[in-house]
Amino acid sequence: MRLSWLEPAEGGPCTLSDLLAAGVLYQHLPMDPAVWEPALQTLCEQRGYVARDEVALSPDTPQLEALLGRFCVEHLHTEDEVRFVLAGSGIFDIRSVDDRWMRVEVEAGDLLVVPARRYHRFFLTPERTIRCVRLFQDPGGWTPVYREPTELPP
Ligand SMILES: [Fe+2]
Repeated sequence: MRLSWLEPAEGGPCTLSDLLAAGVLYQHLPMDPAVWEPALQTLCEQRGYVARDEVALSPDTPQLEALLGRFCVEHLHTEDEVRFVLAGSGIFDIRSVDDRWMRVEVEAGDLLVVPARRYHRFFLTPERTIRCVRLFQDPGGWTPVYREPTELPP
């Protein structure tokens, strides 16, 4: 995982404390199912995630550009967005407590929880491939709420 402020500012580098302050959970797990499966199970029990699926994005994904076009616009959800990266990489921009962008570049083994009601957006990296486990409190209620006015992606 690489963490940075999107707009460099005074006050030092972006750190795990900045993520924590925004309610973001981050953990790196070994890429061994014997380790990460129980860790995800514990997370489900602690935080009430009851559903799970796997999502994969790649240049072969149908409607990839349309999907990315929705993810890259700043939005929030009424429940947590939970991703455990199995392969590939991706970029989450998450709003800090003072409304700056924290850029979180994730790769295999990274577990990231963007808490409910925290604004964020998502991009692929140039390799344009990611595969993740997703955990949900209620998959039926997991819809994006876009921020107004929307900001154009960089
Ligand atoms: Fe989202």
